[in-house]
Amino acid sequence: MTDHTPESEHTAGTAVRLDQGHVQGTGGVPDRFENPGLPPHVHRAADLDDRAARRAERIVAGLFGLSMVGTLIFLVAYFLVDVETQTFVPVVGRTSLSNVLLGVGLALALLGIGLGAVQWAKTLMPDEESVEERHPLRSSQEARDGFVETMMEGGEKAQLTRRPILKGAFLGSMALFPLPLVLQVAGSLGPLPKNDLSVTWWNGRRDEQTGLIVKPEKKLRLMTDPENKPIRPGEVTIGSVFHVMPEGLLEEHGTHKLTEKGKAAVLLMRLKPEDFQDTPGGRKAQEWGYQGIVAYSKICTHVGCPVGLYEQTTHHLLCPCHQSTFDVTNDCEVIFGPAKRPLPQLKITVENGYLVADQPFQEPVGPSFWERES
Ligand code: FES
Repeated sequence: MTDHTPESEHTAGTAVRLDQGHVQGTGGVPDRFENPGLPPHVHRAADLDDRAARRAERIVAGLFGLSMVGTLIFLVAYFLVDVETQTFVPVVGRTSLSNVLLGVGLALALLGIGLGAVQWAKTLMPDEESVEERHPLRSSQEARDGFVETMMEGGEKAQLTRRPILKGAFLGSMALFPLPLVLQVAGSLGPLPKNDLSVTWWNGRRDEQTGLIVKPEKKLRLMTDPENKPIRPGEVTIGSVFHVMPEGLLEEHGTHKLTEKGKAAVLLMRLKPEDFQDTPGGRKAQEWGYQGIVAYSKICTHVGCPVGLYEQTTHHLLCPCHQSTFDVTNDCEVIFGPAKRPLPQLKITVENGYLVADQPFQEPVGPSFWERES
């Protein structure tokens, strides 16, 4: 049966009172609350009885005293107890007496202060509730008019209204003034990511003068980092991981070497053929690898941390920063964490007995950025 009492009904656009506490607006959303007021004040024992007040005072003082004892225990343990001295603590077993006393002392010191403060507030401090009504924040009309008048008067005295050229020059200088700051900030953000993350040492090196990319004349060998040794496929055993740099990079010097190393870093590992998933990703990973050896960018596609951990049993690569997890058996698809894209794969093959890059990364390495797909 439907209840048709006035309290249960409301008409669209009309606020209907439901109970004492609040007023129901349209769509069931309260649009204002009534002030429920304060409950009647109940006096505490210490408010009415002097003996109860003194007892409460002694309890509070005792708790603060307990805190002082705790601090003293801490100081004694710190300065006088030999750290090698052992004691037996139930559950824990044999442990350092100094550590036990330090812990107990600190706990008592903090607990005593906390409990003392709470007890003091609950029993002795004034507990009358007081209400301060909130006044409107808007200034009075008189104050607002006064402000406008002062501003106009200031403008008048500065002759801004009588001298339009001066006014225009002043406004123009103020409008242009922030531009150098804005440009300075924008210019300090470094090159556009598209220009930078799309080109790694595997593609070639960027000519400083022309900005053009000078492609390598041959396929670059994969070199161990930091030994700088080329790698034979037989050295990459199941379960091992190699940290790899492109040939020629480790001989470089200067800060650009660090930048290039940061972008070109590759992880190399070997899986059994049957470990790869029978998916488009798994098949592509195998195809771009060499006899189960696969090479992936080490730069996490979330915000660019080095992916540092390879779980041999699950064939997962883990990024330590925010736990993004990439599945090597399926072309390093993201299976957990905030990264949104797989790690780019480096296509490899063998030349003269050593692993080489058959082609550079086919997409920018590292995190996503706005013009990545353009
Ligand atoms: S940078 Fe790798 S998960 Fe965030």
